[in-house]
Amino acid sequence: MAQNARLRGPGILVFCVLMYPAMITAQQPALHLMPLPASAQSGAGSLEVDSSFSVAFVGHTEPRLERSGERFLLQLARQTGLALALKPAKTARATLVIQADHASKEIQEVGEDESYVLEVTATGAKLIAPTTLGAMHGLQTFLQLVDVSPGGFATPAVTIHDQPRFPWRGLMIDSARHFIPLDIIRRNIDGMEAVKMNVFHWHLSENQGFRVESKKFPKLHELGSDALYYTQDEIRDLIAYARDRGIRVVPEFDMPGHSTAWFVGHPELASGKGPYEIERKWGVFDPAMDPTNEKVYKFLDDLIGEMARIFPDHYFHIGGDEVNGKEWDANPKIQAFMKVQGIKNNEALQAYFSGRVQKLVTKHGKAVVGWDEVLVPGVPKDIVIQSWRGQASLAQAAKQGYRGILSNGYYLDLGWSAARHYAVDPMSGEAANLSAEEKQRILGGESCMWAEYVSPENVDSRIWPRNAAIAERLWSPQEVRDPASMYARLDFVSARLEWLGLTHRTASRHMLQRLAGSSSPVEFAALRTLADLIEPVKDYTRGQTAPAEPTNATPMNRVVDAVPLESDAGRRFNDMVDQFLAAACHDPAAEAGLRAQLTTWRDNDAILQPLAQRSFLVKEVAATSQDLSALGAAGLAALEAIAKGQPAPDAWKARHLAILEQVKKPKTQLLLIPAPAVQKLIEAATAGGTCSAAKP
Ligand code: ACM
Repeated sequence: MAQNARLRGPGILVFCVLMYPAMITAQQPALHLMPLPASAQSGAGSLEVDSSFSVAFVGHTEPRLERSGERFLLQLARQTGLALALKPAKTARATLVIQADHASKEIQEVGEDESYVLEVTATGAKLIAPTTLGAMHGLQTFLQLVDVSPGGFATPAVTIHDQPRFPWRGLMIDSARHFIPLDIIRRNIDGMEAVKMNVFHWHLSENQGFRVESKKFPKLHELGSDALYYTQDEIRDLIAYARDRGIRVVPEFDMPGHSTAWFVGHPELASGKGPYEIERKWGVFDPAMDPTNEKVYKFLDDLIGEMARIFPDHYFHIGGDEVNGKEWDANPKIQAFMKVQGIKNNEALQAYFSGRVQKLVTKHGKAVVGWDEVLVPGVPKDIVIQSWRGQASLAQAAKQGYRGILSNGYYLDLGWSAARHYAVDPMSGEAANLSAEEKQRILGGESCMWAEYVSPENVDSRIWPRNAAIAERLWSPQEVRDPASMYARLDFVSARLEWLGLTHRTASRHMLQRLAGSSSPVEFAALRTLADLIEPVKDYTRGQTAPAEPTNATPMNRVVDAVPLESDAGRRFNDMVDQFLAAACHDPAAEAGLRAQLTTWRDNDAILQPLAQRSFLVKEVAATSQDLSALGAAGLAALEAIAKGQPAPDAWKARHLAILEQVKKPKTQLLLIPAPAVQKLIEAATAGGTCSAAKP
């Protein structure tokens, strides 16, 4: 989003670092599972996974389950490099026996049984589930359990009883602001399957593009998409692909605002005079459908009917967010209509529109999902509210009898850490005080990948691995919330996700290689050292601080586009500082580790500067590179001061804190992540600091 961006509610989040309750810790063996299961009991020994590994189905079977067995074997073969037989066995003497009791629904529904029991012993494994869906989830759990061991690949003996906490666990991808090709959507659906998410919410229309082929109104995609749209056959294939992975597909056609691209081919739907062009910038724009025009409803009836036949899911998202009302205010016919009908303001006018559209959606056999703006008095109760402006609206919706899903706190584009998303719980805040019946109405949540600053090249890295932490929040028991445990497992799962073809790790390296051009290996290593420690600015700051107003033609080849949204190296450095300080600075191993890193940082800029002179894209981070050197030097000075065993003088402190203030200022939309940790070292070295008299 540009300068003024999609608006934001207060969205104040208390970042609670709550302890993982002892009970859960005690009962959960240390497994690399994400999401953690509802319960797990360790057994004795482990099950070898070698090239004789086999899978067999007993009980209910169906083509989807058989295909999931084949994909499981293929994935296991990839993960281990073993030459496995890739077809499920015919006998029940297989290593892993899968028993599903019955089929899932033909069209996947909210709240179907997704539970399973997985029992692994030293001699074999059994996966039992009431439905196909549960069996598919259990297979993903098994894949995560397989690891190297001294004697070969193996799965620890364990008994897992698992089911999701919430029935609606989604990821939304905005394919409209930047078009996301289908192969990328597919591999993200593979990632969702791996972390047991079950709803793909596809944001398909926007000011910047109408991304679905319409046979009924071909001008929608022909004139509204720059030829970047999905054909109906492609969409049907994608829906089948998602269904095979236990994932529903909910389409979103955003209206009455966020709809400029519709009006390029169909200006008669709009409230303004036009002509309209595809929007190239980011933000909230004036064009909106005309709620007073009966032809609009006739058109939507036909279009929703056409789309309802393509998308089998029971839910149909009509958007409804961020209508600024300017076209309505400026249109005398609309103003006259409002007067005659007694419609007092634009909110009421939108409610009138939503009510009409909701009837059309119902007529075509579907139920409406809408952003929280659609929650106004009188909307029918079968609507699902997607809360983005604040968590309170979710609780209010539930109190009024509406079902809802939480997205506030799960906006992946805001660049928050996994821990910060992880701390957001659909049942916290006002929702915690709801009655049991009201709580039932909170169906879960969805992470949202808005695509202003996302390209096909880096979208995986904007979704993963952080999305796995949100997936765990929505699947695992509420008590599972220790960030240290989450990060330990996230590191593992992140690497595993790459076996699915996701590029969240590799893309960054490729992009850095492009911007480094013909760098020497030493220079490239220096660029990576810097890149590993920086993150793009958070929230909506990027749009607000852009040197020139960004558009969808702005290249996304800068360092800010290449680096991950969360710096693992920065987090680990911070952990090491905390460990050092917790030991009152008497931790020689941590001290040596810190010294080694700080020295590398201090000396990094001298290596990188020649490359910055040769590459305009590296030059952009020259100031940040100098900051990293300053940070390294300041951290080393703090270690020296601590080693002296007496408080560093006030003047020393003031000088170093001034350096830190400088370093903490974002430059070229980048944050140097270890700055606060180095500040802790400086403060520890001064009077009253943790380590100011560390070595008496
Ligand atoms: C939204 O972010 N406007 C739903």
